[in-house]
Amino acid sequence: MNKGVIFITGGAGFIGSHLTDILLKRGYSVRVFDNLSTGKRSNLPLENPRVHLIEGNIADAVAVAQAMNGCKAVVHLAAVASVQASVDDPISTHQSNFVGTLNVCEAMLQLKISRILFASSAAVYGGNGEEKAIGEDTPKSPLTPYASDKLASEHYIDFYRRQHAFESAIFRFFNIFGPRQDPASPYSGVISIFADRARNNLPITVFGDGEQTRDFVYVDDLVQILVQALEAPTVDSYPINVGMNHSTTLNQLIAALREITKCSPAVIYAPARAGDIRHSLADNKKLATHYDIKNKTSLKSGLEKLLAHSSVH
Ligand code: NAD
Ligand code: UD1
Repeated sequence: MNKGVIFITGGAGFIGSHLTDILLKRGYSVRVFDNLSTGKRSNLPLENPRVHLIEGNIADAVAVAQAMNGCKAVVHLAAVASVQASVDDPISTHQSNFVGTLNVCEAMLQLKISRILFASSAAVYGGNGEEKAIGEDTPKSPLTPYASDKLASEHYIDFYRRQHAFESAIFRFFNIFGPRQDPASPYSGVISIFADRARNNLPITVFGDGEQTRDFVYVDDLVQILVQALEAPTVDSYPINVGMNHSTTLNQLIAALREITKCSPAVIYAPARAGDIRHSLADNKKLATHYDIKNKTSLKSGLEKLLAHSSVH
């Protein structure tokens, strides 16, 4: 039975393509809106008649509204996901990361679509000087254009919730990893780069001393949460951290990759990136209260799955 069409902005990317897969399995149709800047056609099962890819720019309000017509809910993932890219080019990333969000909200209003899930980020907190878990109420301290655009997007979505009764679920993703995160770009997620280099026994570059920490989440666990939010009768209006409350330093990550791959890549320590967050660890009590995360994937098992997947290609 077709359960209706879900509109996924950025659906040809890493997270969006995994979400597409699970929604198809659950009987939905998926309409992906993506400019293929980092996303790829090959990430999507386009042979499936229930997947439709519309190429377009989220900063183009008319294109977004046309493409969204007939959909029942929206998952807004399209953005330049690299924090560093926003530092290098704040003007162009703002078009995707903020103006795009406004366009999505206006199109929903026009088309009377009320449910939206939004991919915000742990970057809004600006991190901790110390390794303490960050709760949702922690004062926000966006350090980069990326983080400022995500925080502003959250506030605008909340305006549409209050003013126009949007059913909005805002998720602050911590560091997501898994297959299809592209290791080819230096702007890509750290695990995709390190895993690829470790597997090929190539030198790994660490920006800083490698003692910075991240809370890594396996992509399958994330998309399970997103599906729960799409299917819930109601969603909570406050933002929710999506992290596993598990802290890993980059040096520990490299040690784990060495153990799994049985390779010993050299490690080069380079200067830290501007605006880089030192410690990022989720307090995930709200997530655990409102969503089922009992079967979460450990970092080790996620790395093993990722490496098994990459070796197939
Ligand atoms: P990704 O780069 O694989 O996916 C982003 C997708 O958006 C790509 O397919 C890209 O082509 C598309 N896109 C970018 N600009 C666009 C534009 N102007 N118009 C239309 N499409 C555009 O990255 P991802 O890791 O899958 O990230 C998905 C979302 O999750 C992003 O909003 C990102 O900021 C957010 N997020 C990711 C992480 C993470 O660790 N990966 C953590 C926090 C938040
Ligand atoms: C990541 C996401 C961002 C998200 C945020 C939430 C990507 C590309 N970025 O940002 O969308 O909002 O998590 O927490 O998915 N590093 C190295 N060497 C490398 C690459 C990175 O040392 O080759 C370091 C970085 O300097 C940083 C850490 O690894 O200290 C993580 O970097 P990265 O994976 O780019 O993620 P975030 O900046 O945390």
